[in-house]
Amino acid sequence: MNKIPVSRPTVTDEMVAAMADAVRNERMVLGESVFRFEEEFARYIGTKHAISVSSGTDALILTMMALNVRGREVITTPLSFIATANAIVHAGATPIFADASLKDYNIEPSEVRPGRDTAAVMPVHLFGYPARMDEIRENAGERVKIVEDACQAHGAVYKGRKVGALGDAGCFSFYATKNMTVGGDGGMITTSDDRLAADLRKLRDCGRVSRYEHDVFGFTARLNTANAAFGRVQLRHLDGWNERRRAIARRYAERLKDVEEIVLPPTGSRDVVPVFHLFVIQAEDRDALARTLLERNIEALVHYPIPIHLQPVYRDALGMSEGSYPDSERLAGRVLSLPIFPTLTDEEVDWVCQAIVEHYGGKA
Ligand SMILES: Cc1ncc(COP(=O)(O)O)c(C=O)c1O
Repeated sequence: MNKIPVSRPTVTDEMVAAMADAVRNERMVLGESVFRFEEEFARYIGTKHAISVSSGTDALILTMMALNVRGREVITTPLSFIATANAIVHAGATPIFADASLKDYNIEPSEVRPGRDTAAVMPVHLFGYPARMDEIRENAGERVKIVEDACQAHGAVYKGRKVGALGDAGCFSFYATKNMTVGGDGGMITTSDDRLAADLRKLRDCGRVSRYEHDVFGFTARLNTANAAFGRVQLRHLDGWNERRRAIARRYAERLKDVEEIVLPPTGSRDVVPVFHLFVIQAEDRDALARTLLERNIEALVHYPIPIHLQPVYRDALGMSEGSYPDSERLAGRVLSLPIFPTLTDEEVDWVCQAIVEHYGGKA
């Protein structure tokens, strides 16, 4: 069996040809493919606008800046990629953490307790599983903005609506390992707020209101035309790929259901349709299990071994220490991501399951 990675992007001739065609025939920056991609993405998510940017991190930073959070507080989860909290800091606000839930790995809604200075809540649909948005909205209250970090959840559905259309804005990443990519770094912001969309379009393009006029301190944070062309083709495959990810998740769940030593991820319900950006199990002996898998040429990674509040930079900046967010810390010590990507075969899934069953002394 060849090495099985945790994730593998799909690249076809059609995607590469679309990219080459865009470079030859369109403006390399803000060419037609960019605007087409934005329209198609907005339609797919179900928002009025989509604004493409150069990464998921930029999507989060620019949205925070456009919402004017400077000097205030933003509530988010400590169990995420560090960019989630960094965006809050870069926009001049203070991240306030709310512990993650052992059940769905997402922010625990009852921990979302806004104060006088709370400007926004930033839930993350971690590993492609939608956060409990209704409860989060209720606890946040009407005056607090909700920005979804949907960087791992393209196409996931919560109560009939796609993530990215549930809050005031949604932020997506097209980094190479995500459920869809643009053949490099890229990001997208979705919103139905006209004013926010207009502000974001300026911020990503040097603060431009017209060719030579700039009325805010903006950035160069645009998505390249070639990447947008690549992304348009990927978007057409997204639903099929997500369906395959769910089938793989079902196969893992079925074959691993009797392994008492591990906890399987939530599989969703009629209301919640996850997209399994990652398939994350919990195991007390996580590191030993990862070593067993590696011996059989199977990659397993940890997302994330250090919760954000315990990263050196956050310990220093916010004075955080162990024990502040016990469930996030417990998860950080137990989670293990198994291979999942659309071209992973059933045979490969079975091979991974057999390795896990045998690790715990069972018969596959
Ligand atoms: C939850 C989450 N937020 C933010 C980001 C940042 O996205 P990017 O790498 O495109 O900057 C990522 C991915 O890398 C992510 O997984």
